[in-house]
Amino acid sequence: MLPVAVAEPDVPSSRGCAACSGRSARATPSFPFARTLGTVPTSTRTTRATLPACAPDWIRRLPKAEVHLHLEGCVPLDTVGLEDAGHAGVELDPETGAPAFGDLAEFLAFLDRCCARVTRGEQVEQIAYGITSRAAADGVGHADVIFNPTHWPAWRSDLSELVARLDGGFAAGEADHGVSIGLCLSLQRTQPPGESAELVDWLLATRPDRVVALSVDGDESAAGRTGERFAPLFRRARAVGLRACAHAGESSGPEGVRDAVELLGAERVDHGIRAVEDRSLVQELAARAVPLDICPTSNVRLGVATSFATHPIEQLRTAGVPVSVNTDDPLLFGTSVTGEYTRCVEAFSWDRTVLGAVARTSIESSFAQPERRRELLADLDDFLAQGTPEPDAATGARERR
Ligand code: ADE
Ligand code: ZN
Repeated sequence: MLPVAVAEPDVPSSRGCAACSGRSARATPSFPFARTLGTVPTSTRTTRATLPACAPDWIRRLPKAEVHLHLEGCVPLDTVGLEDAGHAGVELDPETGAPAFGDLAEFLAFLDRCCARVTRGEQVEQIAYGITSRAAADGVGHADVIFNPTHWPAWRSDLSELVARLDGGFAAGEADHGVSIGLCLSLQRTQPPGESAELVDWLLATRPDRVVALSVDGDESAAGRTGERFAPLFRRARAVGLRACAHAGESSGPEGVRDAVELLGAERVDHGIRAVEDRSLVQELAARAVPLDICPTSNVRLGVATSFATHPIEQLRTAGVPVSVNTDDPLLFGTSVTGEYTRCVEAFSWDRTVLGAVARTSIESSFAQPERRRELLADLDDFLAQGTPEPDAATGARERR
């Protein structure tokens, strides 16, 4: 089987709670900036006092989906020779040692440099397999993986081979770990219109089984308002049964979120957090139950949100907008799904009811096959009905219904 190390999820450590001794992944971290893994970046650090000792393990086992995860953010830097700052050409945060990206544009340029070094099929298979290993270790039963060919120049003339290699790695990981993976083929906001049309032509002509959705990502602030331009491409994809999601409300404001939903037919908005600037939009998203797949650490690290504590996710959630919690680019932000949920517990005092609801949104808004979605929802219901470990001063933990 494809050998791959599982990155240690970036979660505060539980204090050895007996009731939490379910599945946990422990292997040599493959994340190259490994010393950042055990810490919460300073800008997102909050008090841990309210967090039960067993919470991270409970969160890890909570059945959930990840619906905002980029293939490009899952390339272990040590496999492409970018494991130190000198090679990577990025600043390291003096406190955490994590790569510090000035903004989204700088980050996207880094993805170009990183993915350009992936030239062999075996590398692609390993990257795909690694996604499944980390998903399983994180209690993620299904992941929708966004994949943008503009970042992969070595495969420009052989996209079918790249997708076939991804499919091979995912299939091996699905068989080994019992997770499921879908691919969302992504256009780039700033690419020339002819190129995005060509990509959609290719997709509709080849229809790889693994690709379940059309997506658009990249830098909206550099592209300007592009909803009208991409709308016909999304219409074509939706007409043949592909699902649709779109990055918006990250480097664009609320108008980008409106365009994503109304012009592109996005069933899910990737980020979408700047919807918070328009009260009527927030009400509409809540009324129409449009899910936002939110990545708090990414937003903090790219300067889209000022801190974890003030991240708009809580305002959006309490306004009734369905939100899920995701990593975006976990190996570059040194995070994991469990880490993101755990930080939400710390920052917003989320209890198990809220965590269960967020996990439910993640599954319901995923593009998993209907049968798989039902399976995961049943797993979630069972898990929540089982009773959950409650810390106890004397014993460390006990079950509570
Ligand atoms: N590609 C990878 N991460 C991204 C992000 N946060 N925004 C836009 N495009 C991306
Ligand atoms: Zn993203």
